[in-house]
Amino acid sequence: MTLSESLPAEAATAIDLAALPADFAWGTATSAYQIEGAADEDGRAPSIWDTFTRVPGAIDGGHHGDTACDHYHRWPEDIVLMRQLGTNAYRFSVSWPRVVPGGDGPANAKGLDFYDRLTDALLAAGIEPSVTLYHWDLPQALQDRGGWPERATAEHFAAYAALVAERLGDRVTQWATLNEPLCSAWIGHLEGRMAPGLTDLTAAVRASYHLLLGHGLAAEAVRDAAPGARIGIVNNLSTVEPATGSEADRAAARRMDGHVNRWWLDPVHGRGFPADMREVYGVDLPERPGDPATIAARLDWIGLNYYFPQIVTADPAGPAPHARQVDRPGAPRTGMGWEVDPHGLETLIMRLYEDYGARRIHITENGSSYPDTVAPDGTVHDPERAAYLTSHLAACARAVRRGAPVAGYYAWSLLDNFEWAYGYDKRFGLVHVDYATQRRTVKSSGRRYAEVIAAHRTR
Ligand code: FCB
Repeated sequence: MTLSESLPAEAATAIDLAALPADFAWGTATSAYQIEGAADEDGRAPSIWDTFTRVPGAIDGGHHGDTACDHYHRWPEDIVLMRQLGTNAYRFSVSWPRVVPGGDGPANAKGLDFYDRLTDALLAAGIEPSVTLYHWDLPQALQDRGGWPERATAEHFAAYAALVAERLGDRVTQWATLNEPLCSAWIGHLEGRMAPGLTDLTAAVRASYHLLLGHGLAAEAVRDAAPGARIGIVNNLSTVEPATGSEADRAAARRMDGHVNRWWLDPVHGRGFPADMREVYGVDLPERPGDPATIAARLDWIGLNYYFPQIVTADPAGPAPHARQVDRPGAPRTGMGWEVDPHGLETLIMRLYEDYGARRIHITENGSSYPDTVAPDGTVHDPERAAYLTSHLAACARAVRRGAPVAGYYAWSLLDNFEWAYGYDKRFGLVHVDYATQRRTVKSSGRRYAEVIAAHRTR
């Protein structure tokens, strides 16, 4: 298939490309456990995801990340794919148990060497590395000592961050401390659908606190080790609307907004943890003097991961925040069942800019899963994903026209990969992966992305 066949003429022009800055970061994003594989190699120790994937019933299909996309060995080929897409930025995460297998203590030289090689090769290919220090793969050794509900984990995180920054900080300027701490705390410790699989509100609230403390401590540590570093945090945010105009649903929407948005944004912007949500959780925070300032470390940028809006109704008997999501009838949905609403991305960008004063915003993840099929000629035609990509890029450009400082967009994901509790059946890649052969095939959505990037570049 040629590019012109895959791309309706109006698709690229539907995005107001002229709004986007000339140095816009056109990226893709991945994370270590989802793509690397090589679980036992070169001194890597298990993370909480190696453990959780062994819990019967935890992961669809009993899948795990032992091999994943075998990126640990195939990274040169994956960089070639990034070049084919025309991207100039790549967001990846460093695996803490590969670099510091015990969680604290000595570094594993071979682990650091891997990210060193990757960084050099990206730069040689004209692709700016954007490093996320924590994308959910806590060393199991630290979980055995209590994990994120314990303050020491935040301190060990900062020590590990310093090690990585000392090694890569002469070449990497773009750093994120945490990816989506909401998922680590709420889904991992309260809902139990992600590692470490707990359903304990007290543990979840303590984890949330220490994750944000770890963010602040790591930000300081990275800044000390790499003075030119630009440091951010990556949150997954959702617009939240009440299902009905009833007071109960409107209050539920405020609680859900507190749970998924404000709890994560307010403290890092120096506003403290929201008082209404402290009351909803009813759990004492493990606060110490000085923590609020640490947590509110200067942010050079903020990362927004956006997938779907939330429509919520009151759920008094359910767990905190006593609100649950309901479907908007007739709304378009991806293969995850997530509602497609590009307008939500624009709204959230404007909220970061107008309500939180963000000076630099990166869309660090955005993408969609659909059940792709490989045609007999080996191609993968995924018009729904291409449409999702286009409509969300258009939303970004609208926000930029409204003044928001959006500096980059990282499509989730470069490759189909291990989609956590959903295993390998949910595919988010712009590039298809045949897991039996590890063969990569650029999907038509990937071609569309390449065409949009090229159109922006030649403006
Ligand atoms: C985000 C995660 C990412 C991926 C996408 C689909 O919540 O950060 O790893 O799983 O969702």
